[in-house]
Amino acid sequence: MCIQICILGPTEYVNTFPENPGWLYGYSPFREIQVLIDGKLAGVSWPFPLLFTGGVDPGLWRPIVGIDAFDLPSFDVDVTPWLPLLCDGKLHNFSLKVVSFDTSASGNIGSVGENWWVTGAVFIWLDEHGNQTRGSAIESKIPSTVFSFYPQVSSVTSNGTSTNTSLYFKLTAHRSLSISSTIVTSAGPKIVAWSQSLSFQNIQNMTDLGLNQSLSQLTAGSYSDSFSGIETTYSYPINLYSSYIIAPSLATLSSVFALIDRSLITKRVDIISSLSGTKMGSQSLATRQSAESRYYWNETIVEGTAADTGETEQWFSNSGHSSLGKDGMTEFSRHLKEVDGAIVFDHEAWSMIQVPSTSPLPYVEGEPTV
Ligand SMILES: *[C@@H]1O[C@H](CO)[C@@H](O)[C@H](O)[C@H]1NC(C)=O
Ligand SMILES: *[C@@H]1O[C@H](CO)[C@@H](O)[C@H](O)[C@H]1NC(C)=O
Ligand SMILES: *[C@@H]1O[C@H](CO)[C@@H](O)[C@H](O)[C@H]1NC(C)=O
Ligand SMILES: *[C@@H]1O[C@H](CO)[C@@H](O)[C@H](O)[C@H]1NC(C)=O
Ligand SMILES: *[C@@H]1O[C@H](CO)[C@@H](O)[C@H](O)[C@H]1NC(C)=O
Ligand SMILES: *[C@@H]1O[C@H](CO)[C@@H](O)[C@H](O)[C@H]1NC(C)=O
Ligand SMILES: *[C@@H]1O[C@H](CO)[C@@H](O)[C@H](O)[C@H]1NC(C)=O
Repeated sequence: MCIQICILGPTEYVNTFPENPGWLYGYSPFREIQVLIDGKLAGVSWPFPLLFTGGVDPGLWRPIVGIDAFDLPSFDVDVTPWLPLLCDGKLHNFSLKVVSFDTSASGNIGSVGENWWVTGAVFIWLDEHGNQTRGSAIESKIPSTVFSFYPQVSSVTSNGTSTNTSLYFKLTAHRSLSISSTIVTSAGPKIVAWSQSLSFQNIQNMTDLGLNQSLSQLTAGSYSDSFSGIETTYSYPINLYSSYIIAPSLATLSSVFALIDRSLITKRVDIISSLSGTKMGSQSLATRQSAESRYYWNETIVEGTAADTGETEQWFSNSGHSSLGKDGMTEFSRHLKEVDGAIVFDHEAWSMIQVPSTSPLPYVEGEPTV
């Protein structure tokens, strides 16, 4: 359950550049997917920012697709601490909800418009000896998300008419939550807990009537479940710059120039894989994509002008023990680069590599420091 578009501003700023109506989307860049049990929060996901095959710049993502574009991972929430409630013999509701940041809404929690399809699956393990699971004392500590939002609109006034020239904003969000209880199975009583800590920061600077957009975002956090005893950590930095030139007439070509640098870094335990025996222990994954593209189009040409250029470099390094993988192999890496659609190098190894960090892009002032 994980889809996200990055160049989103807060709803109240969608009319900052009336010369380009519809250019800015609302609903903010913040997304939280909530898992609720009988209407009570059981866990959340602040998702990885996916870029699909036409994302940011249609000239990119061939043949190297965006991270996870074809393999949307699900996010696990350990609902074990809810067993005392779920095993009481009554009906219970699981529901999923997606929310955004909205300065005008209560608690700053807003809606998300369309195109967020979410689905979930509940995995259940039965007591080994068939005993009825019981439990007590569900305790939840779920403070609200803490937001800070700093917007700044610059304008020029000429001949008595004011025109907005740029929109800059910085949005940060933090939250932590934990739910614990005592459950009793045939193995005896056990204290179980699910806890999460999450942070998010998004800085955007739009100039040139919104046609130039810089973005610097960092989503990071950790969680621990009642099964593995290992804390999972993750970090998703993404920096973007895009600059559009919209042709004044049909005869000339419009263009977009884009720079993208982002990573997915995680040290995790996949709870479902571990419990089902396909993966053991923790996994360490780091992957980074750095891309640059210039892409042109007009009324008749939507893709593939001779002037198009683009390149993407990706690093991938993984370590983890799979019971299904190549015999005994625990490490794998790949480093490759594509220029104008052709692979110029591609190195694979059964060992890890150093993945360089996502670096700041030009025109983005104030890198996230979550
Ligand atoms: C400037 O931006 C603000 C904030 O989005 C908007 O309310 C205002 O109408 C804009 N002014 C002009 C002249 O476009
Ligand atoms: C589950 O949802 C249904 C429909 O919204 C509602 O009627 C029912 O009361 C809910 N049950 C619980 C236990 O929350
Ligand atoms: C300034 O405004 C006046 C009155 O609306 C108009 O006649 C004039 O052409 C404007 N000058 C410029 C440079 O836009
Ligand atoms: C599990 O069930 C068996 C059979 O009812 C019972 O003898 C045993 O005490 C139960 N164990 C626990 C830990 O409740
Ligand atoms: C917009 O981006 C272009 C290309 O990166 C740059 O040359 C230009 O100065 C930018 N304009 C503004 C107003 O930032
Ligand atoms: C679009 O650009 C191509 C190549 O420059 C040109 O041949 C074609 O006529 C253009 N289309 C229009 C509607 O001007
Ligand atoms: C926004 O971008 C413009 C153009 O690159 C730059 O001059 C300005 O300093 C930036 N604003 C902030 C607050 O970073």
